[in-house]
Amino acid sequence: MSARWLDDELDNEDPRPERRRTSKTRKPLGRRLATLTADPDDGEADDTICRLTDLGHIHEVVAELKSGKEATAYVARGPRGSVLLKLYRDLEARSFKRDGVYREGQVILDERAARAMAGRTRRGLEMLQAGWVQAEYAHLWRLWQAGLSVPEPLVGPSPYDYAQTTPAVLMRLIGSEDHPAPRLSEAALAPDQARDAWGQAVQGMADLLRLGYAHGDYSTYNLLWWENRVTIIDVPQLTTRHNPNFADLLRRDAESLSTSFRRHGLSQSGEATLREVQRRALGPGPAPRVQLP
Ligand SMILES: Nc1ncnc2c1ncn2[C@@H]1O[C@H](COP(=O)(O)OP(=O)(O)OP(=O)(O)O)[C@@H](O)[C@H]1O
Ligand SMILES: [Mg+2]
Repeated sequence: MSARWLDDELDNEDPRPERRRTSKTRKPLGRRLATLTADPDDGEADDTICRLTDLGHIHEVVAELKSGKEATAYVARGPRGSVLLKLYRDLEARSFKRDGVYREGQVILDERAARAMAGRTRRGLEMLQAGWVQAEYAHLWRLWQAGLSVPEPLVGPSPYDYAQTTPAVLMRLIGSEDHPAPRLSEAALAPDQARDAWGQAVQGMADLLRLGYAHGDYSTYNLLWWENRVTIIDVPQLTTRHNPNFADLLRRDAESLSTSFRRHGLSQSGEATLREVQRRALGPGPAPRVQLP
């Protein structure tokens, strides 16, 4: 099966700059900042924000950063500093179109739940949404603890704790409130910085592979650049070898990475990138932040 097949499945996910829709044209927009106040006297108060405030995870939402396909990113403040709050879309506004490719191979033991999800009932959509949020937390924790360059998750590691923040994911803001880190796709890099960023991006993909993961949407659109460090973001759809699409997703990631780096003057082919990733995956990884038992 070729990567072209995946391109068709994920048609709006195309990492090639010339073919990827910009956030400006994506509709409908996520909830606006004005509706996100946690003020209980405000009839428009957003219930997720109220809940996050009540739970003590945030004090306030500072600004809307970016509205994407699946979620809207906000800058917020919490007890441990600046927070990136990723608020997944209202169920009605989400298509769940891309989910299938990534979820293939997953076993759902609860038959009624499996039926609700397949039938896209409201309950089924809620379960899919919650699954997506919880997968993002679980992956962030796994990668963070293993020492990879990802934002630190700010709720958890117990799934009991992070399940309470659905449909939001809270993680540390990379950059500052005034200057959140740009994505590598929009960063201006000198030639030596571009080479350094490329090396880190390839190493990041290799670090994921060593742990058994393909990112599934790996390109400069999901890599942040801050103080000469690359940070991998957007990890809900990480897949393992249990997914029959694993090899295709991995190949597609390598192609997307190399294509999206062309604007920085690098022209490694997708094939060569994949070989380099596989070679590095056999080498040493980062030091774990937490020693797992
Ligand atoms: N920890 C973070 N620190 C700073 N900015 C972040 C962080 N996480 C995400 N962002 C910003 O928020 C944007 C959206 O995040 P993410 O890619 O996870 O969501 P998405 O809905 O998949 O968006 P897209 O459709 O653009 O891929 C990113 O492109 C990035 O600009
Ligand atoms: Mg993204």
